[in-house]
Amino acid sequence: MILVTGATGTVGRALIDQLRAAGEHVRATSRHPADARLPAGIEVVRADLGDSTHMAAAMAGVDRVFLLSTGPAIPEHDAVVAQAAAAAGVARLVKLSSGRTGDDTATDPIPTWHRAGERSVRGAGVPWTIVRPLGFMSNALHWAGTIRAHGAVHAPYGQGRIAVIDPRDIAAVAAVALTADGHDGQVYTLSGPQALSPREQTAVLAEVLGRPLEFVEVAPEQARRALLEHGVPADLADAIMALRATALAAFTSVVHDTVERLTGEPSRTFRQWAVDHAAEFCSAAA
Ligand SMILES: NC(=O)c1ccc[n+]([C@@H]2O[C@H](COP(=O)([O-])OP(=O)(O)OC[C@H]3O[C@@H](n4cnc5c(N)ncnc54)[C@H](OP(=O)(O)O)[C@@H]3O)[C@@H](O)[C@H]2O)c1
Repeated sequence: MILVTGATGTVGRALIDQLRAAGEHVRATSRHPADARLPAGIEVVRADLGDSTHMAAAMAGVDRVFLLSTGPAIPEHDAVVAQAAAAAGVARLVKLSSGRTGDDTATDPIPTWHRAGERSVRGAGVPWTIVRPLGFMSNALHWAGTIRAHGAVHAPYGQGRIAVIDPRDIAAVAAVALTADGHDGQVYTLSGPQALSPREQTAVLAEVLGRPLEFVEVAPEQARRALLEHGVPADLADAIMALRATALAAFTSVVHDTVERLTGEPSRTFRQWAVDHAAEFCSAAA
């Protein structure tokens, strides 16, 4: 039985689809199981990653764990899950981290949180694998509202390139690490096949959607305000903005061949991702 945390999120849903297709028994965690909308056949248990009693109960009968935590609570949640996994005698723990954790010069919050989480995972005494993706292609969904309403993308750092990755490819690597031998103690940095700036991603989306799109570069402070207006807490907004600024650094534009090496399939292009998500950028009437 594989326990998937973060199961209702972007990577978690893709992972559950792939584990189901492989015939694995999966238990998913959510704080709100009634709203989880997970496929039939998936056992969903209510669990908060910060609650050691919930996590101990969720581990019953589990031999492998996918750990996905988010935000400022990453250090605390990873420690709780790693300890619960050790206490339950779990044989394999796969943590989703962040690519920039591997950039020694990165001192902003998100890689700092993940480094602390990784330390808990490495120290728990459970065989572990760490998966460190660069930026997700699905972050482009944040532009869907202005694309639908105005045919425009508003983003900071228009020239900053990131070798963005399709979340399905992250899930595919996690699925390999969970289900195949030979990945204990490995740290995998993942990227997509090409480094793209927001301006270049906008051009790809325009081509796929068959409509002109304007790219409007906004000041970082304006982008931060937009996050706050969308209800993102200030500490997380600051962390996201610090992360976005690093798109200007060379580290995030390096392409890694890890997805193909581990899964045997080349990583998906942003164009493929955009084709598969085109409907989400179109108004219902279109
Ligand atoms: N976006 C990027 O470009 C990027 C790049 C590299 C790494 N990452 C990392 O990827 C991770 C985010 O992955 P994602 O986008 O797939 O996540 P997501 O879509 O934001 O989903 C978050 C998941 O976490 C669960 N969750 C949140 N708080 C929880 C809690 N207290 N207890 C239990 N579950 C909780 C939610 O489940 P419920 O709401 O159902 O409880 C949900 O399933 C983060 O660690 C981030 O640092 C992101």
